[in-house]
Amino acid sequence: MIGEQYQVTSTRRHHSLCSLTDNSEVGPEDEEAGVLLPPTPLQKLTTDLCKDNKTIKDLIIGRRVGFYKVRGEIGYGTFSRVKMAFHALTKDKVALKILDRTRLDSQAQRLLAKEISSMESLHHPNVVCLYEVMETPSRLFLVLEYAGGGDLHNRICTEGKLSDNTGKITFAQILSAITYMHNINIIHRDLKAENVLFTTGGCVKVADFGFSTQISNQSDSLDTFCGSPPYAAPELFRDECYLGPPVDVWAMGVLLFFMVTGTMPFRADTMGKLRRCVIEGAYTVPPWVPGPCQRLIKGILKVVPTERCAIDQMLGCDWLLSVEFPWSLVPPEPMSPLQSLLDSERGGVDVEVEKEVRSSLEELGFTTEHLHNNQPKHSRSPVTGVYRILLHRAQKRRGCDCPPVVRGMVKDPKREGLRAYRGLRHTSKLCVLS
Ligand code: ADE
Repeated sequence: MIGEQYQVTSTRRHHSLCSLTDNSEVGPEDEEAGVLLPPTPLQKLTTDLCKDNKTIKDLIIGRRVGFYKVRGEIGYGTFSRVKMAFHALTKDKVALKILDRTRLDSQAQRLLAKEISSMESLHHPNVVCLYEVMETPSRLFLVLEYAGGGDLHNRICTEGKLSDNTGKITFAQILSAITYMHNINIIHRDLKAENVLFTTGGCVKVADFGFSTQISNQSDSLDTFCGSPPYAAPELFRDECYLGPPVDVWAMGVLLFFMVTGTMPFRADTMGKLRRCVIEGAYTVPPWVPGPCQRLIKGILKVVPTERCAIDQMLGCDWLLSVEFPWSLVPPEPMSPLQSLLDSERGGVDVEVEKEVRSSLEELGFTTEHLHNNQPKHSRSPVTGVYRILLHRAQKRRGCDCPPVVRGMVKDPKREGLRAYRGLRHTSKLCVLS
């Protein structure tokens, strides 16, 4: 907390965003007044970034990027690596997705632009949050919410299929995320167990929007084959134009089958055989899967897209009746732009949350001028990064990251022997249908 004695002059400290990289520690007015203020954490950091030899060396060798201290690798993709990092001011853990811009062809660049734009529109407790975007001539960095509980694929491979209750709780959160995305016309197109992450508290976070797309309405047809073959809907294998929502729904059916059985519904040793299995809808649900869950799987994995369960039917299915969501399934208010900190009109963010964020920003040394000079909704700004991290932290403290609960005396079925699906992690592909 900034001490009372510093607050009188705190608004004089910085006058613009430029002072984030300006190494003057104390304004001339402060010196004239004879009050030598200790540097704020922000001033100390910006001074170190310009003058401290160790910090500068860390920046050169990639152990620091912007305001973040970079640590070990936690994942990788076709064009990217994901590292753990810490915000130097807030100390929050983040996931840093690093893309090598020199390796991106024009199509990959287009997909990346869509990934950023989708993530900027998405604010939901079950979707990984984008905090900030940073760029250098050769690299692009997406600063993402960190989900420290591993991914669903690894969990099932190491611990076996999920119990009925855990399956419900996990699937309900995925469904909540996809319902929200489809309501705002964003299609994921790469849903798979590897892209379903967990927080350490067991909350689901849908990740990797690298193949996502925004449609103008639900009947828009798409023609790019995206995703991982074992999760791909029959219409994708038939090289047809396709509608976005049913393709995500099919992938959710494959995910659900995998969660409750520990095996994949469509398995084959060649792509040709896999294609045939999927096009024919040749799969069998083991008889021990509870009836309501079997009916949901069968309603989703329908070869003809128009016959496939719609999201609304999934929300109302028997299997999920006992799940109680801590938040509503209607889209939450969007995360307010930074501007709202300054305006009396607060767009969606709770007054108490806003007070807490404003006070934390002040403690770190951000002034009203910094906030004024920051473009609202501008992801390429360190001020936005800090703001979104602090806002998210305040919202999490108020329970927005709690998994749903299952109502009533639902007994956990006895865990069966480990029958994990021990296949390779699924790689996703993209090709434009000709
Ligand atoms: N791996 C990829 N994205 C991640 C994230 N957001 N959190 C943790 N691990 C990840």
